[in-house]
Amino acid sequence: MRIIVTEDYEGLSIETARIIAGQLALIPRSVLGLATGGTPLGTYQKLIDYHHQHHLDFSQATSFNLDEYVGVATDNPHSYHAYMFKNLFDAINIHRKNIHIPNGMAGDLERECAAYETAIENAGGIDLQLLGIGNNGHIGFNEPDLSFEAITHVVKLDDQTIRANARFFSRPEEVPQYAVSMGIKTIMRARTILLLANGSGKADVIHQALFGEISPRIPASILQLHPNVIVVLEQDAATKLPKTYPNKFLLF
Ligand code: PGA
Repeated sequence: MRIIVTEDYEGLSIETARIIAGQLALIPRSVLGLATGGTPLGTYQKLIDYHHQHHLDFSQATSFNLDEYVGVATDNPHSYHAYMFKNLFDAINIHRKNIHIPNGMAGDLERECAAYETAIENAGGIDLQLLGIGNNGHIGFNEPDLSFEAITHVVKLDDQTIRANARFFSRPEEVPQYAVSMGIKTIMRARTILLLANGSGKADVIHQALFGEISPRIPASILQLHPNVIVVLEQDAATKLPKTYPNKFLLF
């Protein structure tokens, strides 16, 4: 595991966008796993800047998003579809046919989950998976106590997640209760994982996830077992890290 601590959110966004841009420069046909939420917004803006200013090319890339709400139409501004098109896809040259986001409006959600998993396999697996982390340690919408074995599935969001997501909705009752999410196993199959955390509110959970017991109670703790994880932390999210890092490197 490599841990990069940045001075501020701008630095986190630049470091992360550089890693993604490097991946695309080396392997233009890369399969990217993408995340939503507040944390990657700056990264997506940097990628858009690199696309316009330095011709960063997405034309051969494929993307798979981690998750989508159940029962929220793709044209609803609260959907993760809308988020991704607004904050990244509409401003870069990725092909529509190469974009994959779970369909939370599917009539048969079990079938949708199985098809999503198959589509990832058929694309050759995910090369680089971007992740945020929830206050409860979730990655994607893999909430605490879910089996590490899970692949893409329908999840009931837990109360802490629903409260955290309420900031994006005008009324609490609008916040979706269910989502389709890649499972922990889907995420762990990615060749490289890029975990981001910003702000002091994430300091405790980052400490538990990276240095605590590996347990489904903190889903992100499974990342300790992945051979190729890069963690990019804005410094306020890194304040609880231990002073020594056995087998881990701290870069400033
Ligand atoms: P955030 O969400 O980036 O908005 O903090 C992260 C997550 O819940 O996975």
